[in-house]
Amino acid sequence: MTEEFEPSILAFCCNWCSYAGADLAGVSRFQYPPNIRIIRVMCSGRVEPAFILEALKDGADGVLITGCHIGDCHYIDGNRNAEVRINNTMEALKYLGLDGRLRLEWVSASEGARFAEVVSEFTEEIQKLGPNPLKAA
Ligand code: FES
Repeated sequence: MTEEFEPSILAFCCNWCSYAGADLAGVSRFQYPPNIRIIRVMCSGRVEPAFILEALKDGADGVLITGCHIGDCHYIDGNRNAEVRINNTMEALKYLGLDGRLRLEWVSASEGARFAEVVSEFTEEIQKLGPNPLKAA
């Protein structure tokens, strides 16, 4: 019998929308895989590429960043800055053989179901990719 790979996923959730969305998912008892550990940040724009690289270097199989929808950021364009930064980081990860291990999503405080859906989808994608190759290094 082969054991199914259970990835460990680190999620950075913005305090104002996505963290509340994650909370709502829990309160509403929406089912999603228990593979994520959440770090609350004040804004998705606070997540620096170094945080992502550090997480992957330390063995996370995937990194999920969630923030307020475009136009709803409490710091005006923190999420727009995050989008540019995360897209650039995604490009860099391709060259490191870590393509697909980073995802950015907008989830509002009222989207508990969406939060659960995003986590389920991303967990499935990471399961298909297999363990982080940096883990073995
Ligand atoms: Fe939520 Fe900026 S405050 S993404």
